[in-house]
Amino acid sequence: MPKTIIVSNRLPVKITEQDGEYELSPSEGGLATGLGSIYKQNNNLWVGWPGLEITDENDRKKVTRELQELSLVPVFLSQEEINQYYEGFSNSVLWPVFHYYASTYANYEQSNWDYYQRVNRIFMEVVLKVAEPGDTIWVHDYQLLLLPALIRKAQPEISIGFFLHIPFPSYEMFRLIPWRAQLLEGVLGSDLIGFHTYDDVRHFINAATRILPVNSSANIITADDRTIVAEAFPIGIDDKKYSSLPDEPEVQKNIKLIQANFGNTKLILSIDRLDYSKGIIQRLNAFEYLLTHYPEIKGKMTFYMIVVPSRDTVPQYAHLRQEIDKLVGNINSLHRTVEWTPIQYFYRSFPIEMLSALYSSAAVCLVSPMRDGMNLVSKEYVASRVYNDGVLILSEMAGASKELIDALIVNPNNTEEVAKTIVKAAYMPLQEQRTRMTQMRQIVSKFNISHWVKIFMDKLEEVKQLQRSMQTR
Ligand code: G6P
Repeated sequence: MPKTIIVSNRLPVKITEQDGEYELSPSEGGLATGLGSIYKQNNNLWVGWPGLEITDENDRKKVTRELQELSLVPVFLSQEEINQYYEGFSNSVLWPVFHYYASTYANYEQSNWDYYQRVNRIFMEVVLKVAEPGDTIWVHDYQLLLLPALIRKAQPEISIGFFLHIPFPSYEMFRLIPWRAQLLEGVLGSDLIGFHTYDDVRHFINAATRILPVNSSANIITADDRTIVAEAFPIGIDDKKYSSLPDEPEVQKNIKLIQANFGNTKLILSIDRLDYSKGIIQRLNAFEYLLTHYPEIKGKMTFYMIVVPSRDTVPQYAHLRQEIDKLVGNINSLHRTVEWTPIQYFYRSFPIEMLSALYSSAAVCLVSPMRDGMNLVSKEYVASRVYNDGVLILSEMAGASKELIDALIVNPNNTEEVAKTIVKAAYMPLQEQRTRMTQMRQIVSKFNISHWVKIFMDKLEEVKQLQRSMQTR
């Protein structure tokens, strides 16, 4: 029976090592939940890096066996490969360029590119060991841009879908990458290429047709006589999980705790992975502007800022963390009073029961990335607002702003606008909150994660049929 193989850089489990023992725990990520419905079915599989270096052959066998029971297949990488493919090329070239930080952060080192190619080939070898003709392969994200073409070469007829979870840059930015043509050729090994927004689709087709000898008509690309479709599939979340969490006793307990500590102020919540693309510094500047220009809000609002540790072995991330620490310290020391601290800052991850309690308690959720493929925090906040109140402030640079048009949309570079919008949000009349939140909740619930998986898979099947009909013409 033909199967579906999901391939992503990380597997949907967390593996930790303690005293030589490896422990697996399920990951709470949206993708893991969404694709759970696929890879746990029939003989389907998920291929990916287990997230840490395992060198001992016996350990590798042990971990492989344990993962096998969960339908997961590991791609083991050495520390050198992780350093250069993951930290180097993926996160020091592709991530900054695709998020418009090329001039500040991109580091085009040949050896990183060599490792990126090498690791994409390692992924190909693992996939080919388990893939059979008739299977469907779904490759995810910027770490694996070369993989579709590598698989295509070995299995010309196989169905390959690719989804990019981060934004695709404009041609002007993309063409800066020395290996731009190879990257595009890699992705064009797919049959269907998915992006979060229509702008990403347009940027991709523009780059492909200007850099490579390929043609396009609307969203159909013809390369080497193959027909490839590029389309927008905005990712959703497991909305029911977030709307039912507030009923759980653990979440209720946390809500009471938050109420007891911050009940007399309005909570302004932000949650991000540590990343310069998330606009954390700019957001802090806007909050400081607010404290300086609207002193009457002092003691009435608390900025609850969670930054989840991420990629801290990449120098820019370590530096950003120091900058945040410093800025939060400055703002708090300048504006705090005996009974009130303006910013509650946490550099750690929280269990979902605490996140849900925070989503439920926050009068305002402030999501202000400089550039973001989609941003799922905005959707999680909306899904958690079971009483249809609360206000979402959303950067127009996040993919989610194309769908959640009833949020208060801001330009994150406009400090004054963000500050004023926080005031507007915190004091928005309940009726207006409800009108906006009800609209957004409908969107988040209709276009949820299972809808996303379904429309992508259906479209991939449609593209295969289109290709067959073109061959018989
Ligand atoms: C983004 C990317 C994912 C990545 C995640 C976490 O959402 O699109 O591919 O897995 O960040 O980053 P990390 O580098 O820890 O995998």
